[in-house]
Amino acid sequence: MILMSLDMIREGMVNARPIFTSQGLMLLDEDVVIKERYLNRLKELGIRSIYIRDDLGDGKIVRDMVRKELKISSFIVIENIMNNLCYLDENEFDNIKKIINKIIEDLLTPEDILVNLSEIRAIDDYTFGHCVNVSVLSLVTAISLGYDKEKLIDLGAGAILHDIGKARIEFNILNKPSSLTMSEYEIVKRHTTYGYAILNNIKNISFDSKIIALSHHERYDGNGYPHNIKGEDIHEYARIVSIADVYDALTNDRVYKKKASIDEALDYILSMSGSQFDGNIVNKFVDNIARYPVGKGIVLNTGFKGYVISNKKGYTSRPVVRILYNNLGKRVKVPYILDLSEIEDSINIVETTDDIELF
Ligand SMILES: [Fe+2]
Repeated sequence: MILMSLDMIREGMVNARPIFTSQGLMLLDEDVVIKERYLNRLKELGIRSIYIRDDLGDGKIVRDMVRKELKISSFIVIENIMNNLCYLDENEFDNIKKIINKIIEDLLTPEDILVNLSEIRAIDDYTFGHCVNVSVLSLVTAISLGYDKEKLIDLGAGAILHDIGKARIEFNILNKPSSLTMSEYEIVKRHTTYGYAILNNIKNISFDSKIIALSHHERYDGNGYPHNIKGEDIHEYARIVSIADVYDALTNDRVYKKKASIDEALDYILSMSGSQFDGNIVNKFVDNIARYPVGKGIVLNTGFKGYVISNKKGYTSRPVVRILYNNLGKRVKVPYILDLSEIEDSINIVETTDDIELF
């Protein structure tokens, strides 16, 4: 499958992955033949690219790290909580722990898979999708840090609720399309203390889980909020979640800015290693993320173009690619596979693109 911008997709191409709204409604099932009106609807929803089947297939199915149904049920639980705070009681928190437990089971399967982030998300999905993504990214990092199941559940449950305090912030400020004034920013910052206060009322939540809501905007160098604490004084769970939170926010469209590419977001996180973020945790974080996810169009330094067909752990920047175009922009006679993890590193990916012509 190949990730293509909607502008490049023509009627008759075939959708390769189901697309859902945050409410779990299916917008477009896999194997559906694309029609013009489907493309228009997706554009209205702010979706810019989708995965298309290639008929060069090598039969490989890309497994989701977390089952789609599970992601959707997590969205729905979080949506209920954010929309109506009364729902967050001991029972609801138990439900969250059960969901986190299932997510962990998915993540702990023996296959060595990298996070291949789906680049499809409607703009209005941000808040709910963000909570689940931050939880998954935090868990993947913590697994690399050697956390046991009990710690993973505490971390995952706290991570999924990290922004719960935003439910108490005025909608107009949170979704303001322009930059915030100083006083508005001060109000937004309060979501950390509000979140901690909300979670403090729940009896069956551990200290380690609820401290995440309070401390996920603290920074390793002390330049965060609300308490300007630094280094190891910030709880390790909050140091993990802070990286996942910034990374996921960067890679998604928001009302006020366009998303960064995965490449740019990873470079940003790495550039803040040791200053904003704990360097050891940054290393574990980036080790798990495919810099060029499956389906992504790429340009090599040789000028050849193609797209990613798989990724290997330990080679986050050197995926297996299928080459479709030569350095003169001409279609190669027979598309071929190049495993960048197995060839010398004088051949590199220099650019990504969603504008590769598949046929
Ligand atoms: Fe936050």
